[in-house]
Amino acid sequence: MGAALLLALASLLYIAAQSSLLSGSVAEGLKPETLTAVVTYMAPGKAAVVRTVAASAAVIALAFLSGRARFIVAACFGAVATASLAWMGHAAATAGWLGWVHLFSDVLHVFAAAIWMGALTGFLGLLLAELKTPEARANVHAALAGFAGIGSTMVAILILTGLVNSWVLVGPANLESLWTTAYGRLLSLKLLAFLVMLGLAAANRYRLTPALGRSLGARADADAEGAALRRSIALETALGIAVLLLVAWFGTLAPPAAG
Ligand code: HEM
Repeated sequence: MGAALLLALASLLYIAAQSSLLSGSVAEGLKPETLTAVVTYMAPGKAAVVRTVAASAAVIALAFLSGRARFIVAACFGAVATASLAWMGHAAATAGWLGWVHLFSDVLHVFAAAIWMGALTGFLGLLLAELKTPEARANVHAALAGFAGIGSTMVAILILTGLVNSWVLVGPANLESLWTTAYGRLLSLKLLAFLVMLGLAAANRYRLTPALGRSLGARADADAEGAALRRSIALETALGIAVLLLVAWFGTLAPPAAG
């Protein structure tokens, strides 16, 4: 609920900031006619309205529904809000049929990013709680083991759609721009962080989660395994946040393919 409220607020602030940037001043930007122009004629402005409405609807769903329906409805509105992010970036600026391919690919990219980052946040919440009881450890183990296949699918989608993004925005003829331009260097840093995240995710899946599984029936105080997972997932989450900060930065720069 806090996240949905923050997203609704951030989206409204984004519209005001975009309007002020375009009109040259906050006073001019906050005029109804300028704000109307941003949300009527600009894809990022329209997308921000969709995100505000979806996030607000999620707050209402979380407040008034109960049980599984509460989370399923909130997740659906979350999916709409996530998809709208693709209309904020460079993907919305690519013209013609390639533009639709780029936009569709970017929607899948932000979906996969949201599911991976959302799951990491959920796991971190579970692991920060006391894992004193066998039930608590069994729950965490079941959640981690249950996510394994989904996690690998999200990684595959991120790599494929990331390559589509890179093909359109960097281009096979501009590979040297990955170290000669600001955009390229930030994208390279992102890919480095992504590779470290992959290493941590593999360790969680193939070493630390099975170790927690083996400890379930063994010793009552088997929190060493929980602590190891806590550290690894905390580091993976921190790297994921760094990836989003890097994207927020190079998403505002001119991509190499734009010349
Ligand atoms: C942890 C993994 C990753 C996360 C969380 C992530 C997240 C994101 C997000 C949120 C965007 C912004 C989308 C937009 O505003 O349109 C983005 C854009 C992008 N991503 Fe990723 N991504 C990940 C992995 C990758 C990989 C593996 C590649 C390359 C193979 C890649 C290449 C790109 C490119 C080129 C863009 C376009 C940026 C722009 O609009 O200029 N990403 N990513």
